[in-house]
Amino acid sequence: MSYPARPPASGALAERPPLTFPPGFLWGAATAAYQIEGAATEDGRGPSIWDTFSHTPGRTVNGHTGDVACDHYHRLDSDVALMAELGLKSYRFSVSWPRVQPGGSGPANEAGLDFYRRLVDNLLANGIEPWLTLYHWDLPQPLEDAGGWPARDTAARFADYATLVADALGDRVRYWTTLNEPWCSAFLGYGSGVHAPGRSDGAEAVRAGHHLMLGHGLAVQALRAARPTAELGVTVNLYPVDPASDAPGDVDAARRIDGLANRFFLDPLLKGAYPEDLVADLAEVTDFGHVQDGDLATISSPLDVVGVNYYSRHVVAAPIEGQQPEKYWRAPSCWPGSEDVRFVTRGVPVTDMDWEIDAPGLLETLRRVHEEYTDLPLYVTENGSAFVDTVVDGEVDDVDRLAYFDAHLRASHEAIEAGVPLRGYFAWSLMDNFEWAWGYTKRFGMIHVDYDSQVRIPKSSARWYAEVIRRNGLAAQ
Ligand code: FCB
Repeated sequence: MSYPARPPASGALAERPPLTFPPGFLWGAATAAYQIEGAATEDGRGPSIWDTFSHTPGRTVNGHTGDVACDHYHRLDSDVALMAELGLKSYRFSVSWPRVQPGGSGPANEAGLDFYRRLVDNLLANGIEPWLTLYHWDLPQPLEDAGGWPARDTAARFADYATLVADALGDRVRYWTTLNEPWCSAFLGYGSGVHAPGRSDGAEAVRAGHHLMLGHGLAVQALRAARPTAELGVTVNLYPVDPASDAPGDVDAARRIDGLANRFFLDPLLKGAYPEDLVADLAEVTDFGHVQDGDLATISSPLDVVGVNYYSRHVVAAPIEGQQPEKYWRAPSCWPGSEDVRFVTRGVPVTDMDWEIDAPGLLETLRRVHEEYTDLPLYVTENGSAFVDTVVDGEVDDVDRLAYFDAHLRASHEAIEAGVPLRGYFAWSLMDNFEWAWGYTKRFGMIHVDYDSQVRIPKSSARWYAEVIRRNGLAAQ
């Protein structure tokens, strides 16, 4: 299979000038362990909260689980070969905590670590920079049974696990991300309960968020001690939050949701403090008694890079009785203390997730992080879209996904021109995979996966992305 240089298959792209990215721009693609690996009970892997959750009737669409997923555990070599054909400069993957430390504490499972040793060695042999995420949502079930992220001890366990992975892979992996999207772990996992472990309690969600960040800070300190030359970072999912109008109620709704979605994490991680207005908004939910002296200093331990995942924008309005849409991350219980804020749809084009397509929001987000929070190098560690794909004559012509990438890469380039130190971009996702509560019903991949045969077909977007990487930029259209 090869990725010939060829223009996009349809006229979905408007006329555009060519754009070149800075030399050394890190072009990548991302995945996560539970979404692709399968082999859920092999070689000593223990259960994670996602195994338990997906096996609980009614939790995922069609009862789908990650038991087999893309069977990447057994297809590592051919999957890395596909990455090499794509010309990827970097591959962002996550380590499955229950595969390498099944009990969530105690000794490492060497067979589990061996899988990641093989993966990393294979990537390096192909000239692909491994970008390792320690936690992409798969908490070992024994730690959930002991209280999960709302329990403070989980943060210490996370730092121990980080040390164990650093001991095994620190000599070969330069880029380390502690957490992927702590907002989702905390507010979808413990607030709305649409993600594992499926608990629904605002105060627990807030505590989970704090302990995730504490775990991040402790892990950064442990990794720094173990591997002084590693590049350490965290990945947050950020959204511009706009008020639906200038009405004071709408403006206040935007302030509140921005607090919970963005500043809850950015401020402690990069400024060492919770925003005062957020603490006041949450007064009915929690007194923040779980925050101990020194926590915020730990949480704001110096980093080397910041990862931003970007998908869409939120537009919100003041409450009107009975009008809260009850769906996915718009579920009111994701927003403790602000459950009655309304999420407004604008009627702009959406993806198959129903997420509004808003490329300028990526530019805005990157500028905000740089201008309000940090001079550190930034990376887009995820960006992409789900669309309904069809295989026709062995090909998948995913023009909508391709156009989505194109628009967001143009926004990324604009951010660089505006002075943002953006150093790389990771497409979500390398291949179709288990999309959490949506199971296999949503496809985000540049590579199509037939889940019965496990046959992979690079889509038009993959061929196009290969050409983007080859040129280090976008061709004129
Ligand atoms: C992000 C997750 C990733 C994937 C994409 C679509 O929130 O990090 O695993 O589900 O959304």
